[in-house]
Amino acid sequence: MSDPLWYKDAIIYQLHVKAFLDSNASGVGDFRGLTEKLDYIRELGVTALWLLPMYPSPFKDDGYDISGYYDIHKDYGTLKDFEDFLNEAHRRGLRVITELVINHTSDQHPWFQDARRDPASPYRDFYVWSDTDKKYAGARVLFGDTEKSNWAWDPEAKLYYWHRFFSHQPDLNYDNPKVRQEVLNVMKFWLDMGVDGLRVDAVPYLVEREGTTCENLPETHEVLRDIRRSVDAAYPDRMLLAEANQWPTDVRPYFGNGDEFHMAFHFPLMPRMFMAIRKEEREPIAEIIRQTPPIPPSCQWGLFLRNHDELTLATVTDDERDYMYREYASDPRMRLNIGIRRRLAPLMDRDRRKIELLNSLLFTMPGTPIVYYGDELGMGDNIYLGDRNGVRTPMQWTGDRNAGFSRADTAMLYCPINVDPVYGYQGLNAEAQQRVPNSLLNWTKRLITVRRQYKTFGRGSLELINPANRAVLAFVRKYEGETLLLVHNLAGSAQPVELDLRRFIGAEVIELLGRTRFPRVAEHPYQLSLSPYGFFWFKLDMPQRVRGRS
Ligand code: NOJ
Repeated sequence: MSDPLWYKDAIIYQLHVKAFLDSNASGVGDFRGLTEKLDYIRELGVTALWLLPMYPSPFKDDGYDISGYYDIHKDYGTLKDFEDFLNEAHRRGLRVITELVINHTSDQHPWFQDARRDPASPYRDFYVWSDTDKKYAGARVLFGDTEKSNWAWDPEAKLYYWHRFFSHQPDLNYDNPKVRQEVLNVMKFWLDMGVDGLRVDAVPYLVEREGTTCENLPETHEVLRDIRRSVDAAYPDRMLLAEANQWPTDVRPYFGNGDEFHMAFHFPLMPRMFMAIRKEEREPIAEIIRQTPPIPPSCQWGLFLRNHDELTLATVTDDERDYMYREYASDPRMRLNIGIRRRLAPLMDRDRRKIELLNSLLFTMPGTPIVYYGDELGMGDNIYLGDRNGVRTPMQWTGDRNAGFSRADTAMLYCPINVDPVYGYQGLNAEAQQRVPNSLLNWTKRLITVRRQYKTFGRGSLELINPANRAVLAFVRKYEGETLLLVHNLAGSAQPVELDLRRFIGAEVIELLGRTRFPRVAEHPYQLSLSPYGFFWFKLDMPQRVRGRS
């Protein structure tokens, strides 16, 4: 059997089936198209894919509104197409992570349709009903730009129902053991088919209790531990990834004692990487690292720069949120809910040095990096599209019609291709970047190649070094006798730094991206000069003599 901790060494590529490749000229990407592009993904060097929801859905929340758990959305193909895709991915050594959206269903789901119509329906109690909209007043409204309350009136049931997200997404009732059983059945179906991991959506909100925020409740953790027990019992090498957009101390319990989730996203770290590079100082990152509690050895953080949602500012202070809006979202159209709906390259003003620096952080901090499709090319966004659709535009493959994404009439595409003079597909596409040795795509491939050679990145400890120059973030990572030193200049000007490496006196210093030998560590502080937004990935090799002594 393969290593059950595979997710600790993984590099994940997150993509939307609809946005990747349209094989049948329907205007929407599909599984056959995705299967055709598996070689591109493998050549990028990533080891796993995370697919956004692919189930039948009215698509009012881009598939996070599921109306059937046991099938594939018809625009994406058939279950057979999915199975073929899965086999082809596995044949190339790529793991596949899919979505498990279990906090809510679509209001079009037959369970809800049945429940609202008939008080005696076995599904009535699958949802949370009330004759008043005053209950659970302590719960915040997450999609505040659209919803004013977590309750919606259903004229058919003549009752209110509970929803944490859009009102067309009624929450499931986890106090009902039948709901829990159904969720286990759904999970089993996809795990039996062979998916390697499940990204479990919106986990903090499963259970509601009066007088609380209805987030992170002990009862919710109990449900999740139950899910984990079922996975462990039958599928020991699969991975569960928690989407819990919370502060570190509230996320920590989702790992439990290694008996809840294998992985959880590190939401608070993400905006702080953007803050640090803008402020040209390490403190935002250093501070959140200090605030991050240790996690069980079998667990792992999921790290990301951007994803399919807005760049969430849910886990920053009010002042920090103001700062982020001011610096990164000057146009109000760039803002959504509590976040910024832009892609990585435009956020970085398309400055290649800044994009590389953020990627270096993504690939060296403790956790498993997740790359959002198109960011390896520096794709742009379209803030004139509604909701979060501006960061979900079709993948730009070539300079041909429809960016090589689809042979459909352009007007049929699920969403316009980016034709911006700077980010448009004519100049910015995978084919063009494959040809240019120094393109962002080829640079990303090289970075991933190096990262994959050292297990320390995925598994090692982290220790901050605190040089006097506060623009420099430096840290040591260690794993089984391997020591790496990572140094980042967050400033847009050249910076000198002196590092206290006395513990490593005599060590050979090898820069990993160029395989260049640097001076050995000596008694005096280790001096480096960093170019604007520059960084070094060093390996420290202790000479035998010193190693023997320690
Ligand atoms: C989190 C998902 O990332 C987001 O896209 C979705 O809208 C909500 N959960 C609701 O399912």
